[in-house]
Amino acid sequence: MSRRLTLTRPDDMHLHVRDGAALQAVVPFSARQMGRAVIMPNLKPPVTEVQAALAYRERIMAAVPAGSLFTPLMTLYLTDNTTPQTVQAASAAGIIAFKLYPAGATTNSDDGVTDLFKLLPTLQAMAEIGMPLLVHGEVTDAAVDIFDREAVFIERVLQPLLAQVADLKVVFEHITTAEAARLVAAGDERLAASVTPQHLLMNRNHVLVGGVRPHHYCLPILKREEHRLALLAAVTGDASHKFFLGTDSAPHAQHAKECACGCAGIFSAHAAIELYAEAFDSVGALHKLEAFAAHNGARFYGLPLNSETITLVEETQHIPQAYAFGEQRLIPLRAGESVAWRMES
Ligand code: NCD
Ligand code: ZN
Ligand code: ZN
Repeated sequence: MSRRLTLTRPDDMHLHVRDGAALQAVVPFSARQMGRAVIMPNLKPPVTEVQAALAYRERIMAAVPAGSLFTPLMTLYLTDNTTPQTVQAASAAGIIAFKLYPAGATTNSDDGVTDLFKLLPTLQAMAEIGMPLLVHGEVTDAAVDIFDREAVFIERVLQPLLAQVADLKVVFEHITTAEAARLVAAGDERLAASVTPQHLLMNRNHVLVGGVRPHHYCLPILKREEHRLALLAAVTGDASHKFFLGTDSAPHAQHAKECACGCAGIFSAHAAIELYAEAFDSVGALHKLEAFAAHNGARFYGLPLNSETITLVEETQHIPQAYAFGEQRLIPLRAGESVAWRMES
């Protein structure tokens, strides 16, 4: 008998759905599995104003298949010019968070923040309202090695930020290192972290051994095996309630990844919950998956839990070589390979 697992419908607390034809292509994948998703605002141009976020929300809703209850949770992109007034207007309009991209750190981050500590009044306004700040936690200093950029961010930015803005709720997004896992596990309840499937399942050998694998290139870049093991220990350990599902599913057209300067981002929405099931099962912790996928994030954001359930079956699921992506092709994680679990429809 194949093992089966029924759990509260999960939420994806870190999701890129892009816009236009790309959005039409990818939203149905998330809508099939997830109850809600925190939508990243790094469009071109970025979503920096309330009206733009509400209009983007409508475009996402229009791409949700009939019958799905999928709900996008909107965020705004923090810039050097974000004011406390924008924070108040965002909160009144139901925007649930602001996203910090250090300028130049990742895909579409050119309009990101150059000096976070010049934004203290804005951050204080967020703390007063209880609006979380979501952080892409890497320094952009060219002198810092790419594999160290998250750990250095903790020292240079995150710890000073937590000390200077009392009560600011922070999500350390897509954490990749033992240092980040340790900080979040030891921190107070206003600090939490999202963790991607790729950082629980792969290490940097998956990017570089046997040839450069552009479809395993994301930011923060995959790290050493000891870091992957630390993340698995964190999401299943004593402080596991501070860690939650955030796929960072980040679709890019095949040609944008397979070229001389391929961009960062891994698409995983087609099999997100199944990939996490594999990761948790690898350490005998499938019983911890439901809290990670469906409870911890909702509790951190102060949202009710989803009332529906989904069921996973341990059955080999073959993953196609590519999906349509408007006029382009989208190469999913595990393309042409398989995943050990399958969500029942
Ligand atoms: C993301 C993207 O493509 O938008 N890429 C990535 O490698 N994670 C941006 C991000 O989340 O940093
Ligand atoms: Zn990021
Ligand atoms: Zn992301």
